[in-house]
Amino acid sequence: MARIPSAFIDELLGRVDIADVVGRHVELRAAGPEFKACCPFHSEKTPSFTVSPVKQFYHCFGCGAHGTAISFLMEYDQLDFVEAVETLADMVGVEVPREHSAPDNGPSKALTLALTEVLEHVASHYHAQRETLSDYMAERGLDDTVIARFMVGYSPRRDALALDPKQLIDTGVYIERDDGNHYPRFRERLMFPIRNRKGQVIGFGGRALGDATPKYLNSPETSLFVKGHELYGLFEARQHTRRIRQLVVVEGYMDVISLHQFGFTEVVATLGTATTAEQVRLLFKSTTKLIFCFDGDRAGRAAAWKALGNALPELRDGRELRFLFLPDGEDPDSYVREHGLLGFHDALERAMALEHFLFDHLSSEVGNLDAAGRARLASLAQPMLERMPEGVYRQILNERLQQIVGLSTQRRASRQGGAGQRRAREPSHSSSPRTVQPSRMQRAMACLLHFPQLLHTLPDALTTLPESVPGQALWSMLCATIRAQPDIRPGQLLERFREHEHFAVLHRLAAQHPATAEFDEGFATPELRDALTYLHRDATRKEIAQYKRRLHELSDSEKQSLRRLLSEVAKLPAE
Ligand code: CTP
Ligand code: MN
Repeated sequence: MARIPSAFIDELLGRVDIADVVGRHVELRAAGPEFKACCPFHSEKTPSFTVSPVKQFYHCFGCGAHGTAISFLMEYDQLDFVEAVETLADMVGVEVPREHSAPDNGPSKALTLALTEVLEHVASHYHAQRETLSDYMAERGLDDTVIARFMVGYSPRRDALALDPKQLIDTGVYIERDDGNHYPRFRERLMFPIRNRKGQVIGFGGRALGDATPKYLNSPETSLFVKGHELYGLFEARQHTRRIRQLVVVEGYMDVISLHQFGFTEVVATLGTATTAEQVRLLFKSTTKLIFCFDGDRAGRAAAWKALGNALPELRDGRELRFLFLPDGEDPDSYVREHGLLGFHDALERAMALEHFLFDHLSSEVGNLDAAGRARLASLAQPMLERMPEGVYRQILNERLQQIVGLSTQRRASRQGGAGQRRAREPSHSSSPRTVQPSRMQRAMACLLHFPQLLHTLPDALTTLPESVPGQALWSMLCATIRAQPDIRPGQLLERFREHEHFAVLHRLAAQHPATAEFDEGFATPELRDALTYLHRDATRKEIAQYKRRLHELSDSEKQSLRRLLSEVAKLPAE
């Protein structure tokens, strides 16, 4: 793909105001030089989300969300980087230039745009013929509102699409025959347009109306439509839910629409495939709680187990995963019709916690939980738990595993001289996560990221760090970037490093020192100076120590270097 030149990103961020960008989605209140709001990324009643137009950063004190206008669009609208840049460019009415550095294999921009337009056109063509479905829809209890919301339609036996056949083939709407002719893929089917998270139609699911086989026919994967990267109903859930608290993952298109019909909009469906890691990642961008809702039969449990495996790496603290197994023969559609919305809510309340499903499943796999069975259970569970990010959640699951296999009781028993009857608690400090203090280098970087112009107030001798200092290379890149553009804003500076291997580190550092009054320039100035002084002194002292270790064998020039180092340390400000 063509790269977007970083000078353009700079210019773009210089033109847009982050308060405008955020303000389109979140109601901002002015608070001094900044703006405040309730955080759109977690649920809260008192505003802890701030937007700083000066720095062009947003920051939430509650959940730590932080970033630039680009990151905001990436997080809030779930866009990728290029999409976010394009959205911003649209806002200020400029074209995104491309650097054609690498060979361009991906779909070209014009083609991609046209393809979604083609699909949109086809969807409305099907939708316009929904009348044919009216009996079927009435039988299934769906009303016009949800039919319109999901643009449900009908594909006739012969269609009259006045579109380029080549494009209809590219979008999977037509099938090309070996002889070069083509015919429509979907005929006499109920059509579900599948939208991406921006709301563009990218494919279709088509259900047979009678007993025709196959029951479902889906669009093939195209440059726009990758099944494992999309979720049916995600766009609609975000459109029609004021604040998403949870997302229920179901299997069928009909389940999604039916739940909407009953007023339950926090629902998405996978597209006839197992839930992928990418889908889990995408879903956790919209919510912290996922409930997988599957059949209670073998296939349903197998699907849930697969989903669990793919979700483990995403289960950092604050996120939650549950499983709801419906009675045999039921799906969410039939369940909500029989038990109503409240009945469905009740079922969700009873959904199984991750650990129950995990350990139940493993226990049933192991069979007899005798000594050997427990050991096997542990050997199956441990590698799974290791796939979770470190944190309290993982620790609790680990403790639960210890309980099940009886290790902790045994260990405790031996520690207590074999008595082992008293119920002793594990010391609580062992389960509290350690908080890591940022290093001096990190503090210095955080200062520059927030107040780039501080660099101009410091002598070169102080800002030029010895190569032996860990992080020196990144530091000097930061300095060089600021020197090249002396009036660079914090948001622009951070974006310059988006492609850098240490972007995540810089992003985290920028977030650690939030855009607040407490961390102002007056605070950052001495902080930066002190950190740099410390780093110089530390590096110099280490060098001196090395010389001193072999003092008797130093050459003349080495002795001279040592003397220079000693005088340098002496010149540095006192600690
Ligand atoms: N599916 C598919 N291909 C099939 C069967 C199923 O892609 N041949 C996918 C579809 O996404 C479908 C989901 O699996 O929505 C669930 O299938 P199923 O339970 O059979 O259908 P329902 O959605 O329950 O549809 P209905 O209630 O209309 O029978
Ligand atoms: Mn069904």
